[in-house]
Amino acid sequence: MIVRCRLRLLIGLCCLVPTLSGCSDRFLAGPMQYVENDALTKEVKGKNSLAGKPRLQDKVRNALAKLYGEKPDRMIVSEGMGVLLTGGGARLASYQKVGESKLRNLGPDRKPIAGGYGLYRRNCLHCHGVSGAGDGPTAAYLYPIPRDYRKGLFKFTSTPFGARPHRDDLKRTITNGLHGTSMPAFEALMSSDEIEQVIDYVIFLSVRGETELELIELGALSDETDMSALSMDDARQAAESVFNKWKTAQTAIINPPVPAPPSTPKSIHHGRDLFLGRTKEKLDCVGCHGALAQGDGPTFVSQDVFNKVVFGGNPSEKEERLKQFDEKTREVWTQKLDDWGNPVRPANLNRGVYKGGRRPIDLYWRISKGINGANMPPGPNDAAVIWDVVNFVLALPYQPELLTNAPAPPAAQAPAVANR
Ligand code: HEC
Ligand code: HEC
Repeated sequence: MIVRCRLRLLIGLCCLVPTLSGCSDRFLAGPMQYVENDALTKEVKGKNSLAGKPRLQDKVRNALAKLYGEKPDRMIVSEGMGVLLTGGGARLASYQKVGESKLRNLGPDRKPIAGGYGLYRRNCLHCHGVSGAGDGPTAAYLYPIPRDYRKGLFKFTSTPFGARPHRDDLKRTITNGLHGTSMPAFEALMSSDEIEQVIDYVIFLSVRGETELELIELGALSDETDMSALSMDDARQAAESVFNKWKTAQTAIINPPVPAPPSTPKSIHHGRDLFLGRTKEKLDCVGCHGALAQGDGPTFVSQDVFNKVVFGGNPSEKEERLKQFDEKTREVWTQKLDDWGNPVRPANLNRGVYKGGRRPIDLYWRISKGINGANMPPGPNDAAVIWDVVNFVLALPYQPELLTNAPAPPAAQAPAVANR
């Protein structure tokens, strides 16, 4: 207990808490280096970069090392970030260094813990990569590819569109996995306490990665010869603004103002008409999801083109395969990449498989506030309207006739539907 109190104090004082990997730790197999963001040293299409600015590049490297630690197994947690993490960040690893002494971290059962870093290395790294860039050795072979945490953007959240996720959102993703993707459910593999530890580490990587991006943006606006550019104060401020986005999100869960109505035929049919864009709200789900909700709306390239490019050969030669298609197709392709620059498809809503969960509230969040970074925009503001759409979406896999036998739209609205 005494030790715990001392720790709080030290972390509270913004003391550095570098955590050390002990040789005896069975979870860790050797030292590792963070992978730098490409834009730090190379030209990246459509992005600001520090290519050709070696002095500013070094400033970014030094700032990151001071703020977050030089290597993955020597993390630093500042007071600002500590508030986002359990134990103020103390559970990021199996050990922590306080002053001259090294302390083993213990779980609720008083047994040594692996810590977020150890658990991540064992369970997540081969997909999500050392720096959380979604570039682990397995990643290239997967569709969709694992999340790059460094934008701070997460898809399956309960917070407003564009906001950082709530811890509970990450907990749901890690516990249940993302159905229909290779993101596994860790419920049977990790205890609830271990999932909390790994969440700390995901947040750590995300915050570190977003700070790196912010510093690159800042550096891109600065002159390589300006000695005062990218000072340590600038870096601390950038980090602070990243923490603050996470802090705000922890109290920003969207709660529907009215509860879910019963799934009556009336509600389902109204939801169907909303989906088809036949109501005054003029929703455009069909443009992306298609008239039969098979994920083949006209605003995306056809499923056939998609399959040929994404699954038609070596994963690293997608660009090459894209070249066989006409200019129009290539343009649509480029417009419909997700915010990470990867191909994405609207969901086929006939399957009853939802990445972000199948509870009504999960679908409420997806439809009302959209899916961050994935080309699915926020829906209407009216909660009652959204609930009817949710009831329709949940009914569709069991009642495909809702769309296959949908009554023709009223004559006056026919042209609007035909245009889609
Ligand atoms: C086999 C590969 C694989 C492994 C292992 C894996 N993931 Fe994932 N993960 C994915 C994929 C793929 C996605 C993205 C799916 C998508 O975008 O639709 C993802 C997405 C995520 C997301 C983002 C969710 C969101 O709302 O955007 C988080 C958080 C995450 N994984 C955490 C973890 C953690 C923590 C571990 C280890 C305990 C882990 N993952 C292990 C493949 C993996
Ligand atoms: C601009 C295109 C676009 C529009 C408009 C759009 N969606 Fe989507 N939707 C997508 C994409 C893309 C995905 C898949 C995202 C992913 O897998 O990362 C998706 C996924 C979904 C999902 C699956 C969520 C999950 O957990 O897997 C549902 C449900 C959904 N959309 C419903 C709707 C409804 C209802 C509307 C109309 C109110 C709508 N969408 C409008 C593009 C769109």
